[in-house]
Amino acid sequence: MSINDNQNIKGIILAGGAGTRLYPLTKITSKQLLPVYNKPMIFYPLSVLIDTGIKDVMIITTKEDQENFKKLLGYGDEWGINIDYIIQKKPEGIAQSLIICEDWINDSSVALILGDNLFFGPDFNELIIDAIYKNQGATIFCIESNTPERFGVLEFDEKSNILSIEEKPEEPKSNLIVTGLYIYDNNASSLADTLKKSTRGEYEITDLNMIYLNNNKLNVKKLDSNYSWLDTGTFDTLLEASNYVKNLEKK
Ligand code: G1P
Repeated sequence: MSINDNQNIKGIILAGGAGTRLYPLTKITSKQLLPVYNKPMIFYPLSVLIDTGIKDVMIITTKEDQENFKKLLGYGDEWGINIDYIIQKKPEGIAQSLIICEDWINDSSVALILGDNLFFGPDFNELIIDAIYKNQGATIFCIESNTPERFGVLEFDEKSNILSIEEKPEEPKSNLIVTGLYIYDNNASSLADTLKKSTRGEYEITDLNMIYLNNNKLNVKKLDSNYSWLDTGTFDTLLEASNYVKNLEKK
């Protein structure tokens, strides 16, 4: 299954950032170009978008790295899609993607995925396609984590309604965290325009998701234990991701 042509949705991959936690690996190249086993990292989020049938993809990079991404991926002909590139001058948050791409998004909905997020699981594309069709407002995907304090964390009331999302809380109120894949209706850019920078100097995607939540327009899909989500922000998680893919390919 794949989304059909009249589904007006575009894909964005955020592959900017300095990757300082992975120095010196990222001193001369982008983190999202580093290998995860046998492929450059960005192949994984790109496949997520391609597998859903999205035809227009924007890749956000730093100025320095854009040329290398172009060398690697070209303009998408190989996969029958259109790839465009845009520069994020400074790493000022995930929500900035929607601001930078506002004109390009035009009247479409958006699937935004972080260039360092890897998703695995049975029929993952079906899950995304279903979410795209059903999306009214925003849809986010959460999963259980042993280190929720590193991520956006969901807080629930006793009836399992979501009360809030907290960005990297010192005392997480649950172990359900928000992964780096987000589906938005066409209001995302104009809502992102209204955000103020957080104390860490970023336009927080969590703040945007909170706007949708407060408007009763946030859908949350839980990825159950059949799914794996790997972020690759540290040496250990990068290595784990390579080993995970290696085992998967052996199977
Ligand atoms: C970002 C988001 C966070 C989310 C995470 C997923 O974190 O701010 O809510 O859980 O991506 O990878 P950051 O990349 O800033 O550490």
